[in-house]
Amino acid sequence: MGIIEIYDLYFKHKPEDDYLLKGLNLEVKEGEILALIGQSGCGKSTLLSIICGIIPHIRRGCIEGQVKLMGEEVKNIKIKDIAKRVGIVFQDPDSQIFLPTVEDEIAFGPENLMVPREEIGHRIQRALKAVRMEAYRYENPNNLSGGQKQLIALASILAMEPSIFLFDEIMAQLDEEARRQVKKIMLDLNKAGKTIIFVEHDTGALDLAHRVLELKDGVLRELKGW
Ligand SMILES: Nc1ncnc2c1ncn2[C@@H]1O[C@H](COP(=O)(O)OP(=O)(O)OP(=O)(O)O)[C@@H](O)[C@H]1O
Ligand SMILES: [Mg+2]
Repeated sequence: MGIIEIYDLYFKHKPEDDYLLKGLNLEVKEGEILALIGQSGCGKSTLLSIICGIIPHIRRGCIEGQVKLMGEEVKNIKIKDIAKRVGIVFQDPDSQIFLPTVEDEIAFGPENLMVPREEIGHRIQRALKAVRMEAYRYENPNNLSGGQKQLIALASILAMEPSIFLFDEIMAQLDEEARRQVKKIMLDLNKAGKTIIFVEHDTGALDLAHRVLELKDGVLRELKGW
């Protein structure tokens, strides 16, 4: 059994649209690092939103087929329980960051998961250290650069300690050094048994992946030879 399983998924955002995903299948094994590539607008972010239950729990759309996390259909799992299993870092950090300090931002997820206060403190420290942003703990995220906000968004998901991480082009706004650090975080997560799906346009990141999948014409195709 895969940790993520998708069978014959059809999806469109609006009834009047053509289908964006057309009979898509995917099985991801626990501990895999998977890269997802494809042209702009082909549906990569949409697919990640479906895997983490944003669609259909928060945003609607026309969806058919099965999407399972750890053997259970996402549509039947409560949002709170999905958040324990899968964390997503969005393409645009502004859509993820909304609290007045970096510390509040990182504490928000674990607080909602009812993690004890002392443990939340440890998680904030660990997450900030991982993204090398310890110096910004009491800053207002609005004063940070796009790349720094992306690192804080990443830290806030690290602090939730899910089993599956979805990263949607999180390297795009980062400088070379921060990119290296994020790659290291991904490898460390993977060593700890975590499963990762990442979307990147920059082919320089693809060497991390165990498998590279291309989304095209609404289905996934594995690219060999990476
Ligand atoms: N909330 C929404 N409502 C309606 N249409 C949407 C919505 N979100 C995305 N779309 C449309 O669905 C298609 C796929 O968008 P999506 O963001 O999933 O593509 P993508 O592969 O992630 O693109 P990019 O590489 O530019 O990030 C696009 O045509 C987009 O305009
Ligand atoms: Mg996208």
